[in-house]
Amino acid sequence: MKRLFKISLMPLIIFFIFIVSSCDRNDKKEYIGIISAMDNEIEILVNETEVERIDEIGGIDYIIGKLANKNVVIAKAGIGKIRSSSGITSMINNYNISKVLFTGVAGGILDSEKILDVVVATKLVEHDYGRIENSGFIWTKGDPGISKSEGDYYECDSKLVNLAYEVAQEVVGENHTFKGVIATGDQFVANEEYVKKLEEDFDAYACEMEGASIAVVCTNYDIPFVVIRTLSDKADGNAHESYEEFSDEAAINSSLIIIKMLSSL
Ligand code: ADE
Repeated sequence: MKRLFKISLMPLIIFFIFIVSSCDRNDKKEYIGIISAMDNEIEILVNETEVERIDEIGGIDYIIGKLANKNVVIAKAGIGKIRSSSGITSMINNYNISKVLFTGVAGGILDSEKILDVVVATKLVEHDYGRIENSGFIWTKGDPGISKSEGDYYECDSKLVNLAYEVAQEVVGENHTFKGVIATGDQFVANEEYVKKLEEDFDAYACEMEGASIAVVCTNYDIPFVVIRTLSDKADGNAHESYEEFSDEAAINSSLIIIKMLSSL
């Protein structure tokens, strides 16, 4: 009798487990993902966040909470394309991410740009992807076989770009806000000749070390994204000194833009 009772209850128990687990999946809270390379690039964002919990996944802390009344996941993924790809992929696979905002600093490329000016990426390109021949390095576009992007450039979401550009103008002023191509590579650029090449070859407005990886991953997962960078240096012979002096201040500009954007998202 007892056995019969257990057997007849079994389908009910299985059904209950199925309902509970599918409710959990369906009710998964939506989050805005905010990601950076360095601690100083998320410091004020984390300070302003009502933190619910911190999940450590693959060596990266994902800070979960509410910022400007929005559910956010904030992470510092580390410097360069490998760390940022890994960080953004884990974020997307572990949380229900509706959009991604990258915040940080960059080296400026155009003569008209000044340190602490803001560049909002419209699209991103990997400037260091290619072949090394006897004649030297030859740039080639990214592997189209593994990417949903059709060209050499990965496009940011136009609505997020427009919002970021508008908000950046309010935060740093119209004359200090740019939008255009950002070139990503695994090198800190401190070389005037190379900067000119980035301008000529890619129409780049800024260079940094993570944006294109965020772009590749978000494009492949169909998640809208934008990259917001404030200039800490001009990627020239003085770039290291300039970075030391201005990177904290530059990181704050990008963070303030993120906080202001959140209230319109
Ligand atoms: N991030 C900030 N400045 C940079 C530079 N000059 N090159 C690459 N990444 C940077």
